[in-house]
Amino acid sequence: MGAAILEVEGIDVYYGASQILFGVGFVVERGQTVALLGRNGAGKSTTFKALIGLARPKNGRIRFAGAEIQGCRPYDIARAGIGFVPEDRQVFPDHTVEDNLLIGAKKGPQGQDYWTLPRIYEVFPLLANMKTRLAGRMSGGEQQMLTIARTLMGNPEVLMLDEPSEGLAPIIVAQIGQLIRKLRDMGVTLLLAEQNMHFCLGLATHTAIIDKGQIVYRDTIAALKADTAIKKRYLAV
Ligand SMILES: Nc1ncnc2c1ncn2[C@@H]1O[C@H](COP(=O)(O)OP(=O)(O)O)[C@@H](O)[C@H]1O
Ligand SMILES: [Mg+2]
Repeated sequence: MGAAILEVEGIDVYYGASQILFGVGFVVERGQTVALLGRNGAGKSTTFKALIGLARPKNGRIRFAGAEIQGCRPYDIARAGIGFVPEDRQVFPDHTVEDNLLIGAKKGPQGQDYWTLPRIYEVFPLLANMKTRLAGRMSGGEQQMLTIARTLMGNPEVLMLDEPSEGLAPIIVAQIGQLIRKLRDMGVTLLLAEQNMHFCLGLATHTAIIDKGQIVYRDTIAALKADTAIKKRYLAV
């Protein structure tokens, strides 16, 4: 049993008058790769927004590394060690790959400095080969890798990825999958939001399924793999 690093408990989130999340709760332990699975519109991105301080939960608690962070500002949450890769990637198109990486460089909350430029180039050889390329001239898959690498340069304690496989060709999705597996095997704590269950089956260690703003299932990925009824009901397989 690892120690919980992120504990989400009963969070309700509203956009204006409409409630989007209903008592969402799940736990991420150090070293786990947790897949937050759910169909389009289920509430995955909203959950992530609550975790990184872009949406304020009306009720509930979010505990990260022992401190309550619900309602904290995004900057402070990032400083506390949550690294976030958004759905739309957001590279700096007019800057080189290396500059994009350096923009993300900082020590972790405990002074961690594991992720440096040389380490990134070792783990992401593709980026090493295109250091001087402008990020705007990279393919979608390359930009996805760059954003993941840039976020790691901030030495986060948890790396959150919102739909890393979305909009990419199958062969690129496989490469992103390999990369995530590599990070998992290095011990990086990962939380990914996905609607692509097949992408997650070979990557994640644990899962929480969200449906219409509620967590409807929490278990190991092996248990989900074996549960045809749950997969049919919530994940349209
Ligand atoms: N800014 C917003 N204002 C109002 N409703 C929103 C907003 N963003 C998302 N929603 C709604 O919240 C629900 C959950 O969306 P989202 O969290 O983006 O789902 P997912 O990431 O699982 O596809 C959807 O019904 C969506 O239409
Ligand atoms: Mg989303």
